[in-house]
Amino acid sequence: MSEPTPTRASWLAVDAYLTDTLVGHDPDLEQAVADQDAAGLASIEVAPLGGKLLHLLARIAGARRVLEIGTLGGYSTIWLARALPSDGLVVTIDADAAAARTARHSLERAGVSDRVRIEIGVAADVLPTLAGEAPFDLIFIDADKESNTLYQEWAARLGHPGTVIVVDNVARSGAVADAATTHPQILGVRAGLEMLGSDPRFDATALQTLDLKGWDGVAVAVLTDAVAG
Ligand code: DHB
Ligand code: MG
Repeated sequence: MSEPTPTRASWLAVDAYLTDTLVGHDPDLEQAVADQDAAGLASIEVAPLGGKLLHLLARIAGARRVLEIGTLGGYSTIWLARALPSDGLVVTIDADAAAARTARHSLERAGVSDRVRIEIGVAADVLPTLAGEAPFDLIFIDADKESNTLYQEWAARLGHPGTVIVVDNVARSGAVADAATTHPQILGVRAGLEMLGSDPRFDATALQTLDLKGWDGVAVAVLTDAVAG
């Protein structure tokens, strides 16, 4: 018997059903996406189900300090901030000052701006400045894919044993499985996954996703006792 093949229409129907059933609608989140689009920013925020996954992982981890690499319009930032206690903090990094401005408005509207610090700058420059702070309990990597190994290296340094690492966009419409790829983004994703699989500081898995954003995937890892801290 052959496997059923999902069509775009069929997986979008499932995505809509799961979103309606498990996530529902939230005016502040939906307005954050609308403002992001109006500002001309890329429509590449996580899907609602993915946003709620981040939120639940932060709650399951009992996270108080979250690091996000790639703010965009603040959609995932709102999901993460809402998972934190009132004295918790999301530090979110984006190189695009216009994105940060849009995100700040959306975070204020959502009532979580007291729990979020936006760092405007290139993540490779900002990350070393965070080394003196308390470690992060959850780190979400969702920026330029070419830098995934660098971001994971910083995640290992800025976390503690038990820190949850989430990496977005690990399937890329199937391109990740092409061992002959020369595409810099795909090479970055593959290098990141190979690091998660072989570096003893990480224990990881990944799931493919078919959602509003197409065919992609998310990796979830935990930092092991091999990290200092
Ligand atoms: C791209 C980046 C993302 O983080 C994403 O979720 C989807 C697409 C991109 O750069 O194309
Ligand atoms: Mg992404």
